[in-house]
This record gives sequence, structure tokens and C-alpha cells, in this order.
Amino acid sequence: MILLKKLFMRLRNKGTGESCELEEVDRLKKEFLSIASHELRTPLATVKNAINLIADEASGPLNETQRKFLMMANRNVDKLALIINDFFLLADLESGCVELSRNEVDINEDIENAINIFSDLAKVNQVAISFEPDRTVKTIIADRQKILNVLTNLISNAIKFSHNGGAVTVSTTRHNSDKGFVQVKIKDTGIGIDKKDHDKLFRSFQQIDSSLTRKFAGSGLGLAICKRIIELHKGKIWVESEAGRGSVFVFILPVK
Ligand SMILES: Nc1ncnc2c1ncn2[C@@H]1O[C@H](COP(=O)(O)OP(=O)(O)OP(=O)(O)O)[C@@H](O)[C@H]1O
Ligand SMILES: [Mg+2]
Repeated sequence: MILLKKLFMRLRNKGTGESCELEEVDRLKKEFLSIASHELRTPLATVKNAINLIADEASGPLNETQRKFLMMANRNVDKLALIINDFFLLADLESGCVELSRNEVDINEDIENAINIFSDLAKVNQVAISFEPDRTVKTIIADRQKILNVLTNLISNAIKFSHNGGAVTVSTTRHNSDKGFVQVKIKDTGIGIDKKDHDKLFRSFQQIDSSLTRKFAGSGLGLAICKRIIELHKGKIWVESEAGRGSVFVFILPVK
């Protein structure tokens, strides 16, 4: 923590000093983020280990209530770990220090994988999820892990913001105006988004309902991460939606 404080002070002084050198500020920012990341992740891993040990009854038998509370703590540690990961991924993406690891990616196969990850959640939320692939879309050159990250963010949103009995449809096509692109659509029949809010969605920490009493969990980082990943691939992402009429999130990626 002391290290973090020192770095923060140096950053502040640099930022206000007359001979502020952008490169040095940038280097300090990266150093700050990397230390902050370590300082947050290490204690969290220790808490997670302790929870696992208690759950395995290493410290003695647990009664049902104790197990219930422990599982509640476990779920929240997992949630916090995801938020920390998203936060640092976004910081990396924004500072431009993320390098894509480009390979041949079968986008249809990855969509099937992403849908499988959410099949249980879709069942619990009573949302039907289907895939309409264009099988003429073969492989694209992209960073597989990052594209999976985009797909999981968009599919989880589509399920999260749907009503019971709703439907989510994912589809692939070749992009109409330019055959050098593949287009992926994630369509839902959920709550929809008012046109006036479309612009702010892709900014970090932006949620339509940001009240403390809001119904949907999340930290408002998912779409900001998606936008940066897609743009890093020289693609585009946008939303077509109206309040109460479902949403369609669309992204296009160059094949090569
Ligand atoms: N499919 C959708 N239908 C309706 N609203 C949506 C949809 N996807 C996103 N939104 C709106 O956009 C906001 C930002 O989405 P984003 O994925 O960035 O954040 P989040 O889902 O709230 O949190 P996180 O993804 O960090 O867990 C959401 O809070 C919601 O208001
Ligand atoms: Mg989200």
C-alpha cells in the first residue's frame, strides 16, 4: 500500500509539474496499475483460499447456516475478482498496452462455446437461446480469447436484461456492404434501451439504471471493454434498440 501511495504522489506531482513529460506519466501510470492489480489480487486469493479451507471443514464441521453464509462470501469474492479483472483489462486497453495475439478463429465455433457457457443461466432465467450461423463464414484472423470475452459480455447482457420467457438469438453473416467483414448479431426480446442512452452505453461505468436499488447486477464495464477490443481489431460495434422493444448488439470484424 505504501508503494501505491508513493507512486500515486509521484503521478500527481508529474501531472501538475511544469515539465510534465507525457511518456514518464504514462510509464508511472502503467507501474501504478500493475502494482494496484497485484495488491488487490493477492489478498483476494488469500481470502478465497481461506473460504475453500473452511468449506472443506479443515477447521471443523460446519452447520447448514454457516455453510450458507460461507457460500454467500464465496460468491461475492468471485464477483469482486471478476470486477477487478474487468477493471484492469479496461485500464490496459485504454492505455494501449494490450497486444493482440492473432490466430485463425472459427467465429461460429466460438459463439457455440460462448452460448454453452450460459446455457444454465438461460435455463434459470427462462430465456431461450439459439444460434443462426452462416456456415459460409469460415475463419477470421483475431485474438480468440478477447473475442470470446466480447461474446460472453454481450450474451450475458442479453440474458440478464431479458424477461422470463424471452428469447436471445445470436447470428453470423457476411457484412452486406463489404464482404471483407463478418457480422455478429446478438438479439434479445428484453427491456430495450432508449435512443438517448445509446451513446453512453459504451463508456466505462455507465448503466441506464445506476441507482442503488437497481434490479440488475453489474459494474458497467462490459460494453466499454467490448468496444475497445472490437476497435483494436479494426472492427465496429453498435446497438439498435428502443425502450421496451428488445435490443440488437451488432459487431463487425475484418476477416483478415
Ligand atoms: N441487452 C441489453 N438490454 C438492455 N440494456 C442493456 C443491454 N446490454 C447493456 N444494457 C445497458 O447497458 C449498460 C451497460 O452494460 P455493461 O455490459 O457495460 O454493464 P453491466 O452489464 O451493467 O455490468 P458488467 O458488464 O460490468 O457486469 C447496462 O447496465 C444496461 O443498462
Ligand atoms: Mg454487462
